[in-house]
Amino acid sequence: MKVLIIFDSMYGNTEIIARDIAKAFPQENMRLLNVKEVKVADLLDVQLLIVGSPTYGGRPKQETQTFLEMIPDAALTGKKVAAFDTRFLAAEQSFGLRLLMKTIGYAAPRILKILVAKGGEAISAPEGFIVQGKQGALKDGERERAALWGKNLSLS
Ligand SMILES: Cc1cc2nc3c(=O)[nH]c(=O)nc-3n(C[C@H](O)[C@H](O)[C@H](O)COP(=O)(O)O)c2cc1C
Repeated sequence: MKVLIIFDSMYGNTEIIARDIAKAFPQENMRLLNVKEVKVADLLDVQLLIVGSPTYGGRPKQETQTFLEMIPDAALTGKKVAAFDTRFLAAEQSFGLRLLMKTIGYAAPRILKILVAKGGEAISAPEGFIVQGKQGALKDGERERAALWGKNLSLS
């Protein structure tokens, strides 16, 4: 199975998670690309596309949103897709921020919705990995959880 993992990252946490997910796949059939360097043509022979971004205001980062919008309609038909994000833990925020986060949501469900709208077949629920503070670090255990999530994707 040819796998493409696309990530976006400001402070490096989402990239760390993407690299942990990538370890689940045979390296000769897997590409890991920063969204800044990916082109629509990179999607052509891919059988599983995984896209991850930090959550910014409940959405993916702008570069990821721009890339997703560039994918032509139906271009993901016949391909498996999955999405992840990094985010704050709502339970650790103030009441007001918790309410806001619940209202605006997270990046991964939005990414997955677009991938499916472009024809992709979702093989997992969208997944979020927790950072502590804007710049991280990742919460203990999240890297292991990412490796396991990747493993489950590789088996589907
Ligand atoms: C401007 C800004 C807005 C953010 N908005 C949210 C948000 O709506 N929900 C959330 O859970 N985390 C939010 N965060 C936390 C980011 O998701 C966190 O900084 C990110 O996961 C770090 O990933 P990176 O190290 O790959 O850049 C925000 C961070 C910044 C800087």
